Amino acid sequence: MSLTGNAKLAGIAGWPVGHSLSPRLHAYWIAEHKLDAAYVPLPVRREDFAPAVALLPKLGFRGLNVTIPHKEAAFALATEHDEAATATGAVNTLVFEDGRIIGKNTDVIGFIGMLRDAGITTLAGKNVLVHGAGGAARAVIFALTEMSAAQIWILNRTPSRAEELAKLFSGRGNTRVEVVANNMALGMIGLVVNATSVGTASRNSDVAPAPFFHYDTLADETAFADIVYRPLETHFLAMARSTGLKTIDGLGMLLHQAVPAFAAWFGVEPKVTPALRAHLLAALEG
Ligand code: ATR
Repeated sequence: MSLTGNAKLAGIAGWPVGHSLSPRLHAYWIAEHKLDAAYVPLPVRREDFAPAVALLPKLGFRGLNVTIPHKEAAFALATEHDEAATATGAVNTLVFEDGRIIGKNTDVIGFIGMLRDAGITTLAGKNVLVHGAGGAARAVIFALTEMSAAQIWILNRTPSRAEELAKLFSGRGNTRVEVVANNMALGMIGLVVNATSVGTASRNSDVAPAPFFHYDTLADETAFADIVYRPLETHFLAMARSTGLKTIDGLGMLLHQAVPAFAAWFGVEPKVTPALRAHLLAALEG
């Protein structure tokens, strides 16, 4: 990589940030498009995030991805928000433009792209079960309403958080959103989504009980999707696969959420290709 004095800059702010695949992902596209640009990891502690966001545009940064623990702070610091950020109350991408700080939630597009790659382009007439009610679940549920799901059930360890999301999203489009308890029968469900961090390698995986599903009540065409990509096959997906059900891993969401961010910072709309997926899989396996 060779940079000039006019290189366009972006990066990912998090604490910790060392596990992030985003630098590898954006570097791939920067090389592919031969851009004079760089995307760097920025280890930023919670208390340093606001000063960093104030300073980085002055240092020439076009924007940032933000990850744990900065997503709420990023929402608060943004001077304007796109529709997905407003609807979800969560921001994963900042764009610095003429003194403005634009907050975006590209996880919504990421989740829709992941389903599209698996052949699911609409959820009209379908029922969906979502496990989780945190920030990631907000993006997933908003995406499911965008895809015209008929009914969404939310299952969460803390039911009050699920109630809050049901209230927020019910009636958006024609989608009904309700809370369910664990142990439910899943007849008539077209898609089951894990939108919790449960199953992430080195986080919860050996202590968190996966929700209990009556797999025998599922229709053959029910698909299981996970937003976790480390490991690629979580316990949640492995159980579904061993029952003969279709599974969709979380790597596609990471790839697709990066597209609009890259386009906003660097002015080129990159493509998600099998070669890019293989490039990231090599890093995950390594
Ligand atoms: P994120 O922004 O990644 O969604 P979050 O807002 O902290 O993070 O939400 C994490 C989600 O994973 C929540 O749905 C959480 O359940 P609670 O609302 O009950 O906290 C869920 N989660 C995390 N660890 C869990 C565990 N060990 N068992 C069950 N659910 C878990």
